[in-house]
Amino acid sequence: MVKEIKSDYILAIDQGTTSSRAVVFNRQMQAVAIARQELSLTYPAAGWVEQDPEQIWQSVLACITAAIAKAGLTPANIAAIAISNQRETTILWDKESGEPIANAIVWQDRRTAAFCRQLQQQGAEATISQKTGLRADPYFSASKIGWLLDNIPDARARANAGKLCFGTVDSFILSRLTGGKVHATDASNASRTALYNLSSQRWDPELLQLFSIPASVLPDIKDSAGLFGHTSVAILGAAIPVLAILGDQQAALMGQACISTGMLKSTYGTGCFAVVNTGNTIICSNNQLLSTLAWQLNGKATYALEGSIFMAGATVQWLRDKLGIINQASDTEALAAQSSYQQSELLIPAFTGMGAPYWQPEAKAAMLGMTRDTGKAQFAAAALCAVAYQTADLLSAMHQDGINIARLRVDGGMTANNWFLQALADLCQQQVQRCNTADATVFGVGFLAAVSLEYFDDISAISQLWQADQQYKPQIDAAAQTQLYQRWQTAVAAILKQQL
Ligand code: G3P
Repeated sequence: MVKEIKSDYILAIDQGTTSSRAVVFNRQMQAVAIARQELSLTYPAAGWVEQDPEQIWQSVLACITAAIAKAGLTPANIAAIAISNQRETTILWDKESGEPIANAIVWQDRRTAAFCRQLQQQGAEATISQKTGLRADPYFSASKIGWLLDNIPDARARANAGKLCFGTVDSFILSRLTGGKVHATDASNASRTALYNLSSQRWDPELLQLFSIPASVLPDIKDSAGLFGHTSVAILGAAIPVLAILGDQQAALMGQACISTGMLKSTYGTGCFAVVNTGNTIICSNNQLLSTLAWQLNGKATYALEGSIFMAGATVQWLRDKLGIINQASDTEALAAQSSYQQSELLIPAFTGMGAPYWQPEAKAAMLGMTRDTGKAQFAAAALCAVAYQTADLLSAMHQDGINIARLRVDGGMTANNWFLQALADLCQQQVQRCNTADATVFGVGFLAAVSLEYFDDISAISQLWQADQQYKPQIDAAAQTQLYQRWQTAVAAILKQQL
């Protein structure tokens, strides 16, 4: 009997801060194979965080090849590729050769903090936030591009001569996949650069001038679903269309089926990003949250409000890699269970500054309330509670912006930890729902490619595919939560005020 060769599989990539992943989905969006590779970060100076773009690319390529092989397929069986990625991370490469001119400056990097403070002092923050929904903060790509142009020899002259390309990681991978033929990004990634105007859905000339960035380095902005280009046969052995691109948090919003206004997801990866769909409205936050673009389909933008926390899973990694008090992230579950929220120890995890709603790029971390009894269990509980308290900060800011959340849909590596999810339900006083798919990010962007392939009529089909795996309800009452949360707020305020 001749084996039927099907070419209706989708390969979705998630290029994250600490790992790359590739998942092969069948037509029904069931994962049939997964490949993953860890990535390293370098910290060349205080506050600097870099990555080697070649390592990023090689890891993506290795994951693609491994996932296709694990599924028992060949590249010819893949009907479409979808890309989701760590956002804001900035790469400049030579237009001709495709060679990066320097390491990628990772989203967590704070080297442009002084420049951003200068922008604030000049009064430019209002323009940035009104046009982009973002802030004058080192987090976003614009000041990182400026730094590379000013600090890598000849970079500015080469950029002015049209010889350099800028891209976030999606754009760099797309360029590599297409053999250097395509220099493009999707609108969700563009919206994280601080150069993209949310209302006009275009690069903004005034912002390019503010950050001294020549328009010639910028990628074309496309819909999040549609044809971005075909993979080079020389690279993958087949010309596969790239049919969807989304920033990883926007991809998780889709993967969590948050396609209606008011629906929220919170992803616990390296950082934590709580994102609520705001439909066709750009909310101008009065409480330090970001407005961003969720996705652009057929030219139509859907917007979102986002709270970004820089250290979530990365705090647990710090316990493992720097303190050496756990062997693996999952050890924190049993350790934290030996303590409680009532412990005196509190961790303020400002290891790479504090993100929303504090926005203090130069803040440093602190462990408070230690006694002679403080040990591994208290560090584990303090690390997990810090992520839960920061989520409570974001929900409270959203509430003050007029958005009330019915429940929290969560995903990401940390959500395998039941102690953490119960703490989240308790300390946020919210019902927490973990979804059935291990990885909402690849699922979301892969689904968008499936819609492009017309395997589904439109994005509403994702609501039928989404299912809760487990639910957590608050087990402490509101009065107990208020007391604990006030203690957190007082501690954060004290630490941010008295930084050395
Ligand atoms: O904005 C940064 C974010 O996209 C990074 O995501 O998954 O690498 O923590 P992740």
